[in-house]
Amino acid sequence: MQVYWVETENFRLLAGQKVEFSPGINVITGENAQGKTTLLEAVYLLTGARSFRTSFDRELIAFEADSAFVGGAVRAADRDQKIELRLLRGRTRQMKRNGVRSTPAQMRDALKAILFSPDDLGMVRGPAAARRRLMDAAISQLRPGYGALLADYNRVYENKLRILKDWREKPSLLEPLDDFSRSLAAYSARLIRYRASFARLLCEAAAPIHREFSAGQEELSIGYATVSTVADPAAPEREIFDAVWERQNQLRQAELDAGSCLVGAHKDDLTIAINGVDARSFASQGQARTAALSVKLAERDIFLDDTGEMPVLLLDDVLSELDAARQEFVLNHIGGGQTLVTCCEAESVSRLLSGRVLHMEKGRVTG
Ligand SMILES: Nc1ncnc2c1ncn2[C@@H]1O[C@H](COP(=O)(O)OP(=O)(O)OP(=O)(O)O)[C@@H](O)[C@H]1O
Ligand SMILES: [Mg+2]
Repeated sequence: MQVYWVETENFRLLAGQKVEFSPGINVITGENAQGKTTLLEAVYLLTGARSFRTSFDRELIAFEADSAFVGGAVRAADRDQKIELRLLRGRTRQMKRNGVRSTPAQMRDALKAILFSPDDLGMVRGPAAARRRLMDAAISQLRPGYGALLADYNRVYENKLRILKDWREKPSLLEPLDDFSRSLAAYSARLIRYRASFARLLCEAAAPIHREFSAGQEELSIGYATVSTVADPAAPEREIFDAVWERQNQLRQAELDAGSCLVGAHKDDLTIAINGVDARSFASQGQARTAALSVKLAERDIFLDDTGEMPVLLLDDVLSELDAARQEFVLNHIGGGQTLVTCCEAESVSRLLSGRVLHMEKGRVTG
């Protein structure tokens, strides 16, 4: 997959400009607040019409303007495609794919991009929710049906939670509790199998990347943590259901006392270790960044294996906090597909062996 160019008009601070990208590595440099992340955001908008910074169109429109435009030409699914979005203040946006008006769902598969932003650091050191989000977003892209399964799970979870919170005021609520627990166990069993298989793929793909990244010094391992009674998360669905159900029964009273759901796939996590040590507690800033980036690159490889297409890689601010060798790796060894990477220091760019440098000043690419 490839972005040939992106064109913006009144998109945040970006000047009306058409910016072309090379098919390999593109480094976007510039001082703070010059529009580097915004340029990535414009490209990201071509991949499903969503921003990674806001869900409000009004924030994307330049302060003084009534509308903004983002358009671009991309190559995906072996054909050239044109994407156009017009964002209007106070009105519904207009979207076109190949000149034809499109719905958000039709925009979604136009282009696939893997984004790494400073927020992704939370993936390694932050709470489990960030790692579940990563798993769920990636599996939803790869397996049709997973998104619907997750939505079903969340619906049952919300129902059960309401019972556990309100049963004291309204004891009749307790009647359907076991039915909801049973459904939660059934949906958990299906989610657990998907996630266990994804975690295994992620570990296999991320470990060699991280090893190369750290010049052979660090061994990354990723595991999958789920309901404690599930001995084998890849076991047949029935077996997993029985194990989750058993745990639910063990903690039935505790759930009633606590007023919360203590058992199920909503508590799953990915365990990340570097050289056998838990990364969440002990990784340095640079190690956490390296591990998060290895995971993102692994996601790109898994997507490539599955679909035959290499997603576009958007890296916002990954170079800071990496030592010279790791920066070198990012700039020169993550080839194979198109990459857009932002950075502040011109010094980092001198490590770039080939590729294009775009320098930004006041919302404009100047060279
Ligand atoms: N809707 C908008 N209209 C005009 N300007 C905006 C709008 N939204 C954000 N900005 C401005 O854009 C600037 C930030 O741009 P951006 O995040 O792209 O910078 P950056 O080059 O990535 O900076 P850094 O190196 O600090 O990450 C801010 O100064 C902000 O005020
Ligand atoms: Mg930025």
